[in-house]
Amino acid sequence: MSETTPSQSQITETTSRHRGFQGKVIFDISLSLDGFITGPNDSPEQPLGEGGERLHEWMFLPSGGPIRPEVDEERFKTIGAMVMGRRMFDVGEESWGENPPFHLPVFILSHAAKETLIKEGGTSYTFVTSGIENVLAQAKAAAGDQNVQVMGGANLAQQFLTAGLLDEIQLHLVPVLLGEGKRLFEHLGSEPLELEIISVIQPKEVIHLRFRIVK
Ligand SMILES: NC(=O)c1ccc[n+]([C@@H]2O[C@H](COP(=O)([O-])OP(=O)(O)OC[C@H]3O[C@@H](n4cnc5c(N)ncnc54)[C@H](OP(=O)(O)O)[C@@H]3O)[C@@H](O)[C@H]2O)c1
Repeated sequence: MSETTPSQSQITETTSRHRGFQGKVIFDISLSLDGFITGPNDSPEQPLGEGGERLHEWMFLPSGGPIRPEVDEERFKTIGAMVMGRRMFDVGEESWGENPPFHLPVFILSHAAKETLIKEGGTSYTFVTSGIENVLAQAKAAAGDQNVQVMGGANLAQQFLTAGLLDEIQLHLVPVLLGEGKRLFEHLGSEPLELEIISVIQPKEVIHLRFRIVK
């Protein structure tokens, strides 16, 4: 399958299913206490930048071991599709491998069209070049009655936030000061965005903060 200009019937179908979407659009990310989602110099060799792998340590037990089953379960039991930015895909693709940990359709926003990639275990990577509204519409259509998870990176998240396309934000706040890297909350304009706390869960290694965006 390749990324092509959608036909009118495809647009109509996507739009009508989009209207019937019952799930939520949830942005989920690990963040340092000083607000970074990576250390400096993120690359395929170091997807989270220098020192940034610390941000994902909480997911693994023991450190360096397999992903905690409860993390997988909590993350994926309610998610039907994911959205990410092209840079996140580029730095992460190699490490996710031939059987990526997503097991669902992933939609990647880019200005460059690319063939859809089908991986093992139910993961597909579809590249969407027609903007944030359209990438979300495609993810909602694929998610059925489940939620859409927006995974980042920072650039994509900032656009979703300013366009008012998110229902919830889930932050995994890691007790480390990275000092430098990719800052999450910037370029958001000067209008305050009001959030309501849904839950705060605080195991030893991380604080899980869940917010509803007040619309
Ligand atoms: N801490 C965590 O849990 C976590 C989670 C996710 C990601 N990350 C990190 O975040 C970093 C990536 O974040 P980032 O902010 O650099 O980049 P990003 O948001 O992943 O991707 C930005 C790219 O998305 C495409 N894009 C954005 N808006 C677009 C639009 N309106 N239309 C078409 N294409 C658009 C562009 O790609 P083109 O240049 O192809 O047009 C742009 O360069 C990575 O290092 C990743 O490891 C960390």
